[in-house]
Amino acid sequence: MAYPIRFITFEGPEGAGKSTQCARLAEWLRARGDDVLTTRQPGGDPVGKRLREILLGGADGDVTDRAELLMMMADRSQSVAKIIRPHLAKGGTVLCDRYADSSLAYQGYGRGIDLEFVSTLNEFAVEGLWPDLTLLLDIDPAEGLARQMARTRMEEEAIDFHRRVHAGFLAIARQNPDRVAVIDADGSLEEVAERIRIAYEAHHRNHASA
Ligand code: TMP
Repeated sequence: MAYPIRFITFEGPEGAGKSTQCARLAEWLRARGDDVLTTRQPGGDPVGKRLREILLGGADGDVTDRAELLMMMADRSQSVAKIIRPHLAKGGTVLCDRYADSSLAYQGYGRGIDLEFVSTLNEFAVEGLWPDLTLLLDIDPAEGLARQMARTRMEEEAIDFHRRVHAGFLAIARQNPDRVAVIDADGSLEEVAERIRIAYEAHHRNHASA
């Protein structure tokens, strides 16, 4: 039996084109007959949407690093329990724009919070639900930021912060080669979409023959 890839996450630095590519892959999978739900973190369910406003809002959002980490985790727990698990339980496919790796990259590598501690909180929040495949859209942080029109609280961070986040994502990919596919996000929308489809098919084949 073919290995079912039913839970896919998109990760990467700012401006890598995750949201667009997530929508593209959803379309492609729907055309193949999958019942696809797209969602994102933070901000998947009503509670998460309010957390997202606090987390990414403007100047009034004077959020400490620890509060930021805990709110990302609160959002993740809501998203897993209220959005992702129910759709997977119905036999559907879920594409999630950011997931646990973002907390490791941003709060761990970026902010400098202990990586083991972030991982422990991630385990607590996801309750054993790890993606079948993670697509890491890789782009130089300076180039990614230059692509962004408006700036969120995170995007206003110094370039050094974004370089640590980027290096963090690559470290996560090296440590999880079976789950994470690194996609070169430099190119046209169609070129990147094609790389993603190729990575999806390769992952499918590798696991089907494993
Ligand atoms: P985006 O998904 O629209 O790019 O925005 C989400 C922002 O939140 C982005 O700057 C990354 C950040 N983030 C974290 O810092 N930690 C997390 O765990 C998640 C999910 C997102």
